[in-house]
Amino acid sequence: MIAVIDEIEIGYDDVGAGLPLVFLHGFPHDRTLWSPQLGALVDHCRCVAPDLRGCGESTAAGPYSMDQYADDVAALLEHLKIRRAVIVGLSMGGYVAFALWRRRPDLIRALVLADTRSGADTEEGREKRKHLVALALERGAGAVADAQINGMLGKTTRESHPDIVESVRQMLSAAPVDGIVGALHAMMDRPDSGPTLATITVPTAIMVGDEDALTPVKDSRSMHEAIPSSRLEVIRGAGHLSNLEKPAAFNHVLSEFVSALTYA
Ligand code: MLT
Repeated sequence: MIAVIDEIEIGYDDVGAGLPLVFLHGFPHDRTLWSPQLGALVDHCRCVAPDLRGCGESTAAGPYSMDQYADDVAALLEHLKIRRAVIVGLSMGGYVAFALWRRRPDLIRALVLADTRSGADTEEGREKRKHLVALALERGAGAVADAQINGMLGKTTRESHPDIVESVRQMLSAAPVDGIVGALHAMMDRPDSGPTLATITVPTAIMVGDEDALTPVKDSRSMHEAIPSSRLEVIRGAGHLSNLEKPAAFNHVLSEFVSALTYA
């Protein structure tokens, strides 16, 4: 589906009924990242998965920042008449979730932070982003996909699931270049969300693949220590895309977390 909000088009899926869950993908992904979760939760929850600005079917117009992505999500929720939702953010989607918490905590019933981290980029990290911007502009999304694919997936998946490797490569290669460049600038300029963690008062589930090389387990442990009402689940045999690599384990934790909210 497409919503036209503030003169930009936002592509999204909206399936099921019940407690609303909003799924925010990472970089350079699109909403299809969440297919295994929508399929598993549709019978119990209302699952909304947008394409962030510049990704998938959403308009690739700036400005790009975590605050802007968060404002787009807030506008979509208002458009869909959703007053409060569980926000599930993976990696860059987690950075957006932190921005949404700072700007519109009233919209958040609970948080799921998957394979993400609270810190801002280091100087070295910013330099790598600048190289990726140049690569995207000079050689396109396919070259960015080649540069990112190994870090995206764990060793177990890379060695034993060529189907997942191929489908993730296709998703990365389909990302619009303007959206890639916009997201890289937004990530480079994002603030440190460390000070935000102690302010989070909603139930929070933190999930991370034990083979995640981009946002390693230690980052999730630090978030768990700093967020008062949080739990941490390490997904065995998964890398950075733990929801795709081990969907059964991921969905089990998510369903249990959501059921506890429904009956709380
Ligand atoms: C993502 O998956 O969103 C990215 O790996 C996040 C990042 O590069 O910081």
